[in-house]
Amino acid sequence: MPTSSTSTTVPGANRQYTLGDWDNRSAVRSKKTSYLLPPVAEVQQQLHSKDWFPPSFIHYFKHPVIRQSSQQTRHRLAANHLVYFLNYTTILEHKIVNRSVETLIHDELGIELPHAMKIAALQLYTDEGYHALFSFKLAEQVARFYDMPVWDAPPKRIRLLLDLLGTCTDEYRPLMWFFVGFVSETIIAKELLDLTGNTLVCTVYQMFREHLEDEARHSRYFSEVFQYLWPRLSPELQQDSARHLIDIIFVFSEVDEQWLGASLASAGICALEATDIIQQLQAPGARAQRARSSAAATLQAMKRAGFFEQDAHRTLFSQSGLIDA
Ligand SMILES: [Fe+2]
Ligand SMILES: [Fe+2]
Repeated sequence: MPTSSTSTTVPGANRQYTLGDWDNRSAVRSKKTSYLLPPVAEVQQQLHSKDWFPPSFIHYFKHPVIRQSSQQTRHRLAANHLVYFLNYTTILEHKIVNRSVETLIHDELGIELPHAMKIAALQLYTDEGYHALFSFKLAEQVARFYDMPVWDAPPKRIRLLLDLLGTCTDEYRPLMWFFVGFVSETIIAKELLDLTGNTLVCTVYQMFREHLEDEARHSRYFSEVFQYLWPRLSPELQQDSARHLIDIIFVFSEVDEQWLGASLASAGICALEATDIIQQLQAPGARAQRARSSAAATLQAMKRAGFFEQDAHRTLFSQSGLIDA
């Protein structure tokens, strides 16, 4: 078991490749939250001044049609968005992130890992199972509050990620799984970062805050694991991986237009306006901008690992619009 000699050179070295004080800090070990919505009348009262989901996090809320719509319409759209996001989270945690973490726990990468890194991976796996549970519980309640129809189709991002993984060779696939987890875990914390308590329905805020606290640790951990693994890959593997990382980052900025179309219709937005809203989100410039902004922590971790010291990698990433030329 190597005890990384580099660990003495970084701040907080004794915590490298760990989730810090996991036993006392992680939600699954330390929180007793019920994640139950208040009674209906109280939720309705809160909705006079609070939201189901931060409007600034919903890209299509900037569209004039949504901005000029009634508060009732915006609440319904935000509730739809929340339920979709929570159901997507439940799937992501189980089927994507935890599958990724398995590659570290079960030595699937063919690279020897520090013992602390494996223990943290086992803890992270447990965290994600709990996140899936509370996301699922809250999604159910909000869906019931509005009597929403069930949306069964797998979220587009999950489908695209599984497609990418399906096109890899068997040999490369474990590394691809790791990269998917790395991108996902460094993006999600950014998505939840700006939440504040006085603007969201109380239970939603509590759930997001507890998730975010865990995800801040996960993001730091995955960044460190990436920095450990990257220099240990052959130049050929690095070259192949650079392209795959771009593909993965772009998947996380995808909009599920089928679901969004249904959501807009359920809130009374007419088909013509809905088409315009969706087309604006899909414009190549808008897509690259979303990807670049949501992947800021991902790109930072890659930079720290020396990824952009290769001219070829810099060129690929600037051509994709993820970094400046
Ligand atoms: Fe999570
Ligand atoms: Fe996580």
